[in-house]
Amino acid sequence: MSHADDHEGTRRDFIYYATAGAGTVATAAAVWPLVNQMNPSADVLALSSIRVDISDIEPGTQLTVKWLGKPVFIRRRTQDEIDEARSVDLNALIDNDARNENITAGADGADENRALDESGEWLVMMGVCTHLGCVPLGDGAGEYDGWFCPCHGSHYDTSGRIRKGPAPTNLPVPPAAFVDANTILLG
Ligand code: FES
Repeated sequence: MSHADDHEGTRRDFIYYATAGAGTVATAAAVWPLVNQMNPSADVLALSSIRVDISDIEPGTQLTVKWLGKPVFIRRRTQDEIDEARSVDLNALIDNDARNENITAGADGADENRALDESGEWLVMMGVCTHLGCVPLGDGAGEYDGWFCPCHGSHYDTSGRIRKGPAPTNLPVPPAAFVDANTILLG
């Protein structure tokens, strides 16, 4: 059993994880031609890009979906969460790197470089602790009001940046984009 499996059953948002897997996620057929040129296996093809319906996510809650076999957190942040993330002095960050696959590599860790939209309402990131791979607890957990990994005590802030504990880097932001106001494409 993996670290991730250890914690899925106890997480409050596990129900959303299951729901998303069953109904709100569909494979994106359009990605096939491009991926096919790289000759991946069939099971990778099936999961390499997914569309996620975000229309039911209320401010202050998150949806967890499975992408490429790993959990991805999609959080609709409150203004307080955004303000908290954007008021942080970047010199205080353990990892001052955006870790965002959607922008230029090496950009600093400002929240503006991690959020999916300009206002900062939407934050999409891998739900895998960068220490040893557990799934962090969300909904304002930990000393920095974001996510907390109880395995060895890593605290992430409301931007998913590591602030305390053994995890070396921020939670990475995967390839993601809005398809329309209610749909995010992962991959
Ligand atoms: S796996 Fe998260 S703190 Fe060790």
